[in-house]
Amino acid sequence: MAKRFYIQTVGCQMNTLDSELVAGDLLRAGYEPAGSIRQADTILLNTCSVRQHAEDKIYSALGRLKELKDRRPGMVIGVMGCMAQKDQGQILQRAPYVDLVVGPGQLGQVPALLARIAARAGPVMQVSLDRAGGNRASVAASFAKFTPSRVAGARPAPHQAMVRIMFGCDKFCTYCIVPRVRGPEQSRPAEEIVEEVRRLADDGCLEVTLLGQTVNSYQDKDGPATIRLPDLLYRLHNIDGIRRLKFVTNYPKHMSDDLLAAVRDLSKVSPYLHVPAQSGSNAVLRRMKRGYTVESYREMLARIRAMLPQAAVTSDFIVGFCGETEDEFQQTVELVRQSRFKNSFIFKYSPRPGTKAAELYQDDVPEAVKRRRNHELLAVQNAICWEDNQPFVGRRVEVLVEGPSKVAKKRSAGDESVQLVGRTTCDRIAVFDGPKTLTGRILPVMIEKADGFTLFGRVA
Ligand code: 5AD
Ligand code: SF4
Repeated sequence: MAKRFYIQTVGCQMNTLDSELVAGDLLRAGYEPAGSIRQADTILLNTCSVRQHAEDKIYSALGRLKELKDRRPGMVIGVMGCMAQKDQGQILQRAPYVDLVVGPGQLGQVPALLARIAARAGPVMQVSLDRAGGNRASVAASFAKFTPSRVAGARPAPHQAMVRIMFGCDKFCTYCIVPRVRGPEQSRPAEEIVEEVRRLADDGCLEVTLLGQTVNSYQDKDGPATIRLPDLLYRLHNIDGIRRLKFVTNYPKHMSDDLLAAVRDLSKVSPYLHVPAQSGSNAVLRRMKRGYTVESYREMLARIRAMLPQAAVTSDFIVGFCGETEDEFQQTVELVRQSRFKNSFIFKYSPRPGTKAAELYQDDVPEAVKRRRNHELLAVQNAICWEDNQPFVGRRVEVLVEGPSKVAKKRSAGDESVQLVGRTTCDRIAVFDGPKTLTGRILPVMIEKADGFTLFGRVA
């Protein structure tokens, strides 16, 4: 009987993509997807280490899985991804019933490792070298690039796909664990990316989101001329069938005029730019080792607004970073107020063992202050979201229909009109009624109402 697997994913889009690729490999190896954890014999948790909260959730999920495994000892439990790389053997100490620990650099080995476990070899752990565990080439090689060919059936949405164009990160922002758990920055060859997107287009995929921790530092230096992100966008733009291209996450310092010009000149590239600022205070940015000042961030934003007046710009912020004074926090509030981001993702600082900040600075902003700053900044951003959505009322937007909304999924059965969700090119969510068969179409929607998060309209 075929083995049934279930992958539970926490964390960012990189993890969602990794889970899809592992699922594809397992389908190819003869596994079947299980509808739920309870129906699975192989349960894989794809984990995140970016904040303590994410790790706590995984360890408590592991606690629940222990009960399941006590009843069904033949079950296989695997921990993959960032927390596997960070905690390594500690996972097996804390949860000795775990069978597999596999880092982001070994995901290509999952089917083979599961076969080893099935042969009763005991728990298996495969992780990469530490960043200081060898010279750059050997560390990079230990973070193997995971680029299996795609399996359409593993993709969460048939009309949309994520494509990784680079691995790892070399920025070492002092708060961030990512460079340690995802390894050195490594760009994929442009030719390989173009080929992958071409295949996705042949499979009916309309929208491709290019992924990289610092996606705009992409460079393929192997050919006669270096290929950077704007060059890559030009190549992908030529692929028939692809209608929309997006890319995340940008690093402010690499937001070149060339890239902005490509976004402006290529009709398929969405005018949507996620460029995290993290803080509005130069002193905090220095402690974070972000490598830019608030002034240079504002200058970058001004260039975006001048070249792409319609662009939606989004940001990430960390509140309550080590030593953040009230005055420093208010400078962040000021930056958010003035920048008019389409959206901001706001996080309370969470110290990560193994990072420079955890080593050098005290986590000295009390939790209650972090919480208050989080709410205050969110309130400023939410007011902007609401105001910025209002001008859409009475306008027609072009929407890629993603499918029935969560509410509709629960209720709908047949072909009747249901509530559908779609996205505009600038990544705004639009909700409207229509038959499910509109899924995967790009349609004009007349907006009739808007709140801070959603545009409401009708197909017109
Ligand atoms: N604590 C809180 N937020 C963090 N981020 C990264 N590391 C931490 C941390 N230690 C946030 C940053 C980043 C986003 C993905 O997560 O804002 O842009
Ligand atoms: Fe982390 Fe900074 Fe790299 Fe982003 S750029 S992944 S915040 S180290």
